[in-house]
Amino acid sequence: MDNRVYVFDTTLRDGEQVPGCQLHTVEKIEIAQELEHLGVDIIEAGFPISSPGDFQSVVEVSKAVSEPIICALTRAVEKDIEVAAEALQYAKRKRIHTGIGSSDIHVFNKLKSTHEEVLERAVRATRYAKKFVEDVEFYCEDAGRANLEYLARMVEAVIAAGATVVNIPDTTGYCLPEQYGAKIKYLIDHVPNIDKAILSVHCHNDLGLATANTVAGLANGARQMEVTINGIGERAGNTSLEESAMILRSHHESLGLETGINVKRIYPVSRMITRLMRMPVQPNKAIVGRNAFAHSSGIHQDGVLKSRENYEIIDPQDVGIPSSSIVLTARSGKAALRHRLEKLGIELPTEELAVVYERFLHMADERREVNDEDLLELMGMESSRRVLEITSLEVTAGTEKPSRAQVQINVNGVQKYNEAQGNGPVDATIRAIDGIMGTHVKLEEYLVQAITGGSNDLARVHIQVSKDDVFYYGFASDTDTVLATGMAYLDALMKV
Ligand code: KIV
Ligand code: ZN
Repeated sequence: MDNRVYVFDTTLRDGEQVPGCQLHTVEKIEIAQELEHLGVDIIEAGFPISSPGDFQSVVEVSKAVSEPIICALTRAVEKDIEVAAEALQYAKRKRIHTGIGSSDIHVFNKLKSTHEEVLERAVRATRYAKKFVEDVEFYCEDAGRANLEYLARMVEAVIAAGATVVNIPDTTGYCLPEQYGAKIKYLIDHVPNIDKAILSVHCHNDLGLATANTVAGLANGARQMEVTINGIGERAGNTSLEESAMILRSHHESLGLETGINVKRIYPVSRMITRLMRMPVQPNKAIVGRNAFAHSSGIHQDGVLKSRENYEIIDPQDVGIPSSSIVLTARSGKAALRHRLEKLGIELPTEELAVVYERFLHMADERREVNDEDLLELMGMESSRRVLEITSLEVTAGTEKPSRAQVQINVNGVQKYNEAQGNGPVDATIRAIDGIMGTHVKLEEYLVQAITGGSNDLARVHIQVSKDDVFYYGFASDTDTVLATGMAYLDALMKV
């Protein structure tokens, strides 16, 4: 069996179904071009019948990329298929993705139909799509909960009708990896014409098993995986592209499977999706979360400093992240402290390091995270810690005039004032702070979280900035979101 796994990216279709993540056509084009550089084989660009905007997006994405196959989703409905075919007219390589429910729950409760009638509709839809395109993918919706024999009949019938790919979605994220893998194996072993099509895995994450199920399906013979960047998707999301691609790479020896993904592009694409879909990645998310390569406990830091492989199975640079980070906290050990001091040009004999380490622990308990400024202070190399705090902030915002921020900052005991306009109160505040600090950083991530809910809630702000490809984080919280933003931004700048 061929060991090449085709990567079908559905960020622009299943991913975009997430409330609040809707994209404009220009944004979809930008993402599609990035997906092309990432090396995906198929881009599911949308569901053209669903809205004029989605139709237009499929048209424009079709024009904008040339390598990947462009796919459009339909129901098993003739009108859907006609509209999808029209939307795909400019695609150099095109595919229609049609389908219908396959579980008894869908057949009887959703479609209010019978097994035979649904089979007929499946075949009719496949044949109809074939009139417009050669490449037709059929999805057996809710296959995860479908009866095996009925599912096998459906797969056989749609392949006989011309389907080139058959998708076996675990639509509700219900299966265990063993069950899902066994389902794929059953189809490979029992569908007589299975050699005429590729089986595709499409898993949802309702039980946190989407990636595990995807890998189980591939290990059992599926050769296409349907994934999204950052695992974005309906409810708990879809299988994440970055996790699956890196699993296949990390376990190449045992699985023997390959994709065409250019893994170095993973992190840049992940950032782009976060930005354009306004959907932050959880900090502990595998591969692309901000803590995925951050080490803060003493034992791990010591191990990583001796040899990265001690605690990292992936080199962060392989996925486009500049480096791992060693975060100094009260859980850090002497090895990490020595490492950071040496980076500052300070070398200490072992006995002296032990004394400094005791002082460091007290400082870390008090300040939570210890940065380079703090270390210099600890070594008595600066008369005092750099003082950087907002002493006053006035912001005006509204519909009538551009937002304006007036900010006063205590910089090492000197009060500095600046004011700036921006396209919102946050932008104005950051511009005003930049005018005082003169630090040239790129704002990479800005995340506001309400802690308990309610309009009088505390806002916790997380900011990430970068300078010369190094990331710095700042955190702050306040009931005033704009003030918390200014404080978090200063917290990040203090570490640059
Ligand atoms: O989850 C699902 O079943 C789907 C199909 C429309 C492919 O997204
Ligand atoms: Zn889905």
